[in-house]
Amino acid sequence: MIFGLRGCRFALLLAVGVQGFAWLASRAQTTPARASAVDAGLAMTPPMGWNSWNKFGCNVDEKLIRDTADSMVSSGMRDAGYQYLVIDDCWHGQRDAHGDIQADPRRFPSGIKALADYVHAKGLRFGIYSDAGTETCAGRPGSRGYEFQDAARYAAWGVDYLKYDWCNTSTQNAQASYAIMREALNRTGRPIVFSLCEWGTAKPWLWAASVGNLWRTTGDITDKWDGKAHAYDNGVMTIVDLNEPLWPYAMPGHWNDPDMLEVGNGGMTQEEYKTHFSLWAMMAAPLIAGNDIPRMTPEIRSILLNKEIIALDQDPLGKQGRRVRKDGDLEVWVREIAGGNRAVLLLNRGAAPADIHFAWEELGYPARLKATVRDLWKASDAATTEGSYTAHGVPSHGVAVLSIEPAL
Ligand code: GLA
Repeated sequence: MIFGLRGCRFALLLAVGVQGFAWLASRAQTTPARASAVDAGLAMTPPMGWNSWNKFGCNVDEKLIRDTADSMVSSGMRDAGYQYLVIDDCWHGQRDAHGDIQADPRRFPSGIKALADYVHAKGLRFGIYSDAGTETCAGRPGSRGYEFQDAARYAAWGVDYLKYDWCNTSTQNAQASYAIMREALNRTGRPIVFSLCEWGTAKPWLWAASVGNLWRTTGDITDKWDGKAHAYDNGVMTIVDLNEPLWPYAMPGHWNDPDMLEVGNGGMTQEEYKTHFSLWAMMAAPLIAGNDIPRMTPEIRSILLNKEIIALDQDPLGKQGRRVRKDGDLEVWVREIAGGNRAVLLLNRGAAPADIHFAWEELGYPARLKATVRDLWKASDAATTEGSYTAHGVPSHGVAVLSIEPAL
C-alpha cells in the first residue's frame, strides 16, 4: 500500500471530487458500511456470459438485449453456464439535473431497470459498462467524480456485473481510480462482479486481486487468428502470447482476462474458433461470448456449448494453464485440475497437420504412471498408457485438448 490510511482517504476525497463527496456525505448517515464484496464469493470460477461489444459495438438497444436474453435461454447457453448478459458502451444518455446517469431514451425507452428485470426473469444476471475517466471510449459520460452516485444507481437498477473501462483518464492513477469504484460498489451492499478493463497498461495482475474479480491483460481482441489490426487490436495468437506468462496471478475470485470471445463473428475458420475457445478454457479465462446469439449457427453453438471444454474452463481449483514446451509452431500446454488430473492442450500454429508428442514428466507426473487419456473435443477416451502420448494429425491452426487421469 502506497498511502497510509489517512493518505488513502485524502487521495480518495480528492479523486471523487467535490460533487461526489457532497453526495457521499449525504448518504453516509443512512448507508451502513459493508464488508468488501470482492471476496464475497463472486466469480469463484471464471465469469461466463455475453457482451454486446464485439459484434454490435455502439449499435445496442433494448430489443437486442431482450432478444439476446431470450436466445441465451432457448439455445441452452444459460444452462451451459453463460449467466451474465452485459451491455457494453453506448447505452448511456446524459446526466440529469441531479447528475444521475440516464439511459439513451431513444435506444432504451423502457429504461435500464425494466431491462434488468426482464433479464433476471429469464434466470440470467445483468451487467453494464462504464469508464473511470470523464468519457467512455465511445464518448458517452464516464463515471469520474460520480462513482458513488453511479454505483448506487446501478445497484437500484439491479446490476450484477460492472465492466469499467479506462478511456479519457488523463493522468489518473489506475489503482486509485479502480479502488474508488470498488468502494462505491461495496457501499451499495449489492454483490456486483467488478471487471477491470484497463488493457494491462498498469499491470493490474500485480494489484487488482484486492480490487476486482477480473482484469483485462491486453488491448482489444479482434476477430483474426494472429497479428494486430492496429496498435490496440490483437489477433487471438497475439493475445495468447501476452496472457500466458500471467498464469501465476489467476485464482478463484480473481482472473486474468484476455478479452471477450470472437467465436462466431466470421473472421476465423471453425478450426480457429475451436482453438480460440480451447485456449481461453486452458487459461481459466472469462468466457464472455461476443457473437449474435439469435443467429448462431449449429457449428458455432457446438463450440460455445461444448460441455467438457466449459468444464475445463470452470475447474474449481482455478489454476491457469501454461505453456511447457514450444517447438516452432507446435506447443504443449498443461493445466492442473482439481482432484489430480492434468489437462493438456496441443497446439499447432503451422500450415500443415502435425503429430505432437509429450511425456508425463512435462506434466509433473512420474514416467511410470499409468493414465487414461481422454480427448475432450471427441468426448471419448483415446488410450490408457504409460509415460507419454502422441496426438496424430493435429490440424493446422488446431488443437487436441486432453485430460490425463491417473489410473489405479
Ligand atoms: C474499449 C474496451 C472494449 C470496449 C470498448 C467500448 O476499447 O477495451 O472492450 O468496451 O472500449 O468503447
